[in-house]
Amino acid sequence: MLSCTYSAGIFGIDGYMVTVECNTSKRLSCFEIVGLPDNAIKEAKERVRSASINSGFPFPDCELIVNLAPADIKKEGSAFDLAIILNILKCAGSLNFDVELEDRCFIGELSLSGAIRPVRGVLCMTIAAKNAGMKQIFVPEENVKEASVVQGIEAYGVKNLRQVVDFLNGKVKIERSEYVPTEADENISCPDFADVMGQSMAKRAMEIAAAGGHNIILIGPPGTGKSMLAKRLPSILPEMNFDESIETTKVHSISGLLPDDVSLIKVRPFRSPHHTMSTASLVGGGKIPTPGEISLANNGVLFLDELPEFNKQVTESLRQPLEDGCITITRTAGKVKYPCSFMLVCAMNPCRCGYYGHPTKPCTCKEGDIKKYLKKISGPLLDRIDIQIEVPSLSYSELSQKKASEPSSEIRKRVSKARAVARERYKDELTDNGIRINCNAQLEAKHLRKYCELDDQCRSIMERAFKNLGLSARGHDRILRLARTIADLDGSEKIKVPHIAEAIQLRSLDKKYFN
Ligand SMILES: Nc1ncnc2c1ncn2[C@@H]1O[C@H](COP(=O)(O)OP(=O)(O)OP(=O)(O)O)[C@@H](O)[C@H]1O
Ligand SMILES: [Mg+2]
Repeated sequence: MLSCTYSAGIFGIDGYMVTVECNTSKRLSCFEIVGLPDNAIKEAKERVRSASINSGFPFPDCELIVNLAPADIKKEGSAFDLAIILNILKCAGSLNFDVELEDRCFIGELSLSGAIRPVRGVLCMTIAAKNAGMKQIFVPEENVKEASVVQGIEAYGVKNLRQVVDFLNGKVKIERSEYVPTEADENISCPDFADVMGQSMAKRAMEIAAAGGHNIILIGPPGTGKSMLAKRLPSILPEMNFDESIETTKVHSISGLLPDDVSLIKVRPFRSPHHTMSTASLVGGGKIPTPGEISLANNGVLFLDELPEFNKQVTESLRQPLEDGCITITRTAGKVKYPCSFMLVCAMNPCRCGYYGHPTKPCTCKEGDIKKYLKKISGPLLDRIDIQIEVPSLSYSELSQKKASEPSSEIRKRVSKARAVARERYKDELTDNGIRINCNAQLEAKHLRKYCELDDQCRSIMERAFKNLGLSARGHDRILRLARTIADLDGSEKIKVPHIAEAIQLRSLDKKYFN
């Protein structure tokens, strides 16, 4: 007898439908799963047998062949268990013969007791199921929140095998899960700029970075608020639109990092990996490729604290993803592409002791050591960081001021306005790689000539800076991009003298530390 159900797998960040066929015949007593299964799927044989018996359904003693189609994609994970057992139970008669399975998709791992355990990537699989025309999807209860985000398919959260079979046989009801935005989605715990005293220049730089999507590096002695400032950046970034939220949630879903109470990530992610990390955990990789920190930071912030402490090979691997906004990982299991469009924020001390260039505290490092320390950050990486600023020590009066600093919500309003202006201006522009431009940081040389024209006065300031600071052509372009963002924040269509002057200031560290 032949039976067929549907399930879904994941490849990269996208789901794909899997047809699970089961054939039984009386000839021998055996159980095989075919269709390029990995070890976890091969072990499904033991799980489904035990789950079936412990749920009170006799397991058929006959020849059982289960095929997972398409057979040319290597399947991995344990999410097919539920679809496999339902097929078998239909052949064995525990599931009524007239139960329709054509437009239902089943996802879940079985425990030996018959309980249904959570799996990764439910959001991606639900999208695939909806696109394939499925009407209902059954997923582990822990994952139902993310499944319910997808409109146009009914999502049911299920606890155990008995419950699913009884539901399909029409004996019990299961409530359909509806998408309700939760407080956890909004993640209101993101810290606020109101906590940061003084540091007005650094805060202004963060605002400009957020408005233009510019990468930023903060340099200064210990304990001046660099890490504090970086952690607060997501609170002033413009809200994610629905598509961005889905894309970010997908990456977290396939990594198994979506908290149980979150259905859709609405606050831009903030990732702060430790400096002992490997290249694979930064950019993604592994035998079965999984997304790295750069993809988990997609549409948000990647913060590299203590940048010189990172292995140089690790930080160098950021160069291509920073340029392209996506990364392709090739492994024996295949080639997968993950999105990684993020803002890079770096923080560092100017030397190992932390006090090089400090106005009062003496630096105890040797000159050669300071050079070596700063050299750990390569020119090409630094070139991709538009804003480089100093975060100096605070005076006591600044630190003890009574007046609260401006809250993130106010800064965010200005940032969102400036971004909206930029997005509208570049709505028909593409980068050389064919990516749509939506912020100033993405402008290339050809766009700069069109959108960042300078009048004579601005040009003479720029000329002076070019000579005095010994700027490269790239440095020059970067100042133009920054000036464009500053003008946008100011609501000005033209770049004016104060805009260009402030942009030059945001680059002054080039000369002080890195040249
Ligand atoms: N501008 C500030 N306003 C209020 N508190 C501050 C400020 N700067 C530092 N602090 C206090 O000092 C602590 C350390 O700050 P933070 O971790 O941001 O320093 P840092 O610049 O990253 O230092 P390091 O170079 O050692 O990493 C903060 O948790 C906070 O309590
Ligand atoms: Mg720090």
